[in-house]
Amino acid sequence: MSFLNAYFYDKFMARTEQACLKEWRHGLLEQVSGDVLEIGAGTGANIELYSDGVTRLVLAEPDKHMRKLLTEHAASRQLENVSVIGGSAEQIDADDGSFDYVVSSLVCCSVTDLKICLSEIKRVLKPGGSLVFLEHVAAESGTSRRRWQNLITPAWKTFMGNCHLNRETEQAILTEGFDITKIERESMRKALPIVRPTIRGLARKPA
Ligand SMILES: C[S@@+](CC[C@H](N)C(=O)[O-])C[C@H]1O[C@@H](n2cnc3c(N)ncnc32)[C@H](O)[C@@H]1O
Repeated sequence: MSFLNAYFYDKFMARTEQACLKEWRHGLLEQVSGDVLEIGAGTGANIELYSDGVTRLVLAEPDKHMRKLLTEHAASRQLENVSVIGGSAEQIDADDGSFDYVVSSLVCCSVTDLKICLSEIKRVLKPGGSLVFLEHVAAESGTSRRRWQNLITPAWKTFMGNCHLNRETEQAILTEGFDITKIERESMRKALPIVRPTIRGLARKPA
């Protein structure tokens, strides 16, 4: 991601955050506790939403420009037990079974290899731990929105940090062997029509 993409990311997302994302993030994260890893943490949109029940928070972000903003954001909050690390979600620098929750918000669209990313998330989760996801996803196949997503994705991902508009993330989570224990499907308000379909919820690693 370029410096400009990172710098303008929060401004670009502001209307959508106010319209729905903030509320969705809050609803998901208030139930998160214990040892928590957030992948692709970006500029830190979720930082303020973690509760006191979180005993250790690791914020991972591979992009150096995003990571700089994330580090500044985390430092400004003077939070205890929070660390910022680099590295991609396809190669997480953590031991097997070390987290109660892994959080992914608007990241599965951008990773290079979604299958490897989900397998890594599963590896670092404790048995019975959960992936918390909030992702924009492919529209239903056969719809005109899906056709537009398929058409635009090759150019879009070039300019938008590898963001794929047409990822079937829910199916990929199930294929990886997670049990989806909660899911909501909703249209992302104040967003471009091609990124509106979203899923959010919890996917449990079997005990
Ligand atoms: C749309 S931003 C979302 C940022 C943040 N999670 C949020 O909710 O606002 C996508 C993020 O995914 C990160 N990302 C891209 N490829 C990644 C990968 N392979 N592994 C982990 N994070 C990745 C980007 O650097 C960026 O911070």
